[in-house]
Amino acid sequence: MKRLAVLGHPVSHSRSPAMHNAALAELGLGGEWSYEAIDVRPDEFEARVRSMAGGDCVGANLTIPHKEAALALADELSETAREIGAVNTLSFVDGSVRADNTDAAGFLASLEGQVGGKRALILGAGGAARAVVWALLREGAELSVWNRTELRSRNLCDDLGGTPVAAPDIRDYELIVNTTSVGLGGEDPFAELPLETDRFGPGQTVVDMVYGEEPTLLLAAAEAAGARTVDGIEILVRQGARSFELWTGLEAPLETMRAAARLAI
Ligand code: ATR
Repeated sequence: MKRLAVLGHPVSHSRSPAMHNAALAELGLGGEWSYEAIDVRPDEFEARVRSMAGGDCVGANLTIPHKEAALALADELSETAREIGAVNTLSFVDGSVRADNTDAAGFLASLEGQVGGKRALILGAGGAARAVVWALLREGAELSVWNRTELRSRNLCDDLGGTPVAAPDIRDYELIVNTTSVGLGGEDPFAELPLETDRFGPGQTVVDMVYGEEPTLLLAAAEAAGARTVDGIEILVRQGARSFELWTGLEAPLETMRAAARLAI
């Protein structure tokens, strides 16, 4: 058996097992490969990864709170993961741990279009924002970064690039990306973030990394105003597809993964 897993704490809500198992089944690998969610506390993380690397595991995805801890224990770290400062994909080869980040490439793929030269506003300055900023800067976008705690957006821009902004007007931007957790617990994005519903319009792309059962308030408002929208599930699917390709060497069946991720509760 070739085993794959997502490691997180908590992790029971993850849609990755449904998505990856559907992809494995679609390619006829369901009998030989499997993907499960494993709840791993931070104090158990290193030992668990070492034992997976020494066993029959091929790879793992990482989610909260393990994405930064993995930087230190990797035997081999991709340039992307090192520059972003976060790991979401591990591959185990001959007992050693290879660490990568597919969040950045997955995010870019979800946009399905040119971002070079576009004006983009990033909301948030945590780990998710770092991958987005890194990806967009590499593609030549012009970036402003807003964060509730200004010191963090300043630090992020010092580290990676982009310009911190205190009071952005969303009409100035062609691409707006919410990387904050606002909306996850039912918070109102128009109260917590520098956004106004009547300032979205056609010609804009609005991305919300938060996902749930329904379109978020942010995406519903953007869509109603004629903007293009990309939700967090699409980004999950695109990063998952890249991880799948790293592990199996096969082209990921995107449609199958998308359908499974949207169905999974
Ligand atoms: P992640 O690694 O998933 O990005 P994180 O590092 O905890 O998670 O970052 C969460 C982001 O959501 C931060 O940008 C945070 O802002 P602060 O740096 O000011 O904490 C943002 N965030 C969370 N709740 C928020 C709220 N109610 N209003 C505005 N921003 C919020």
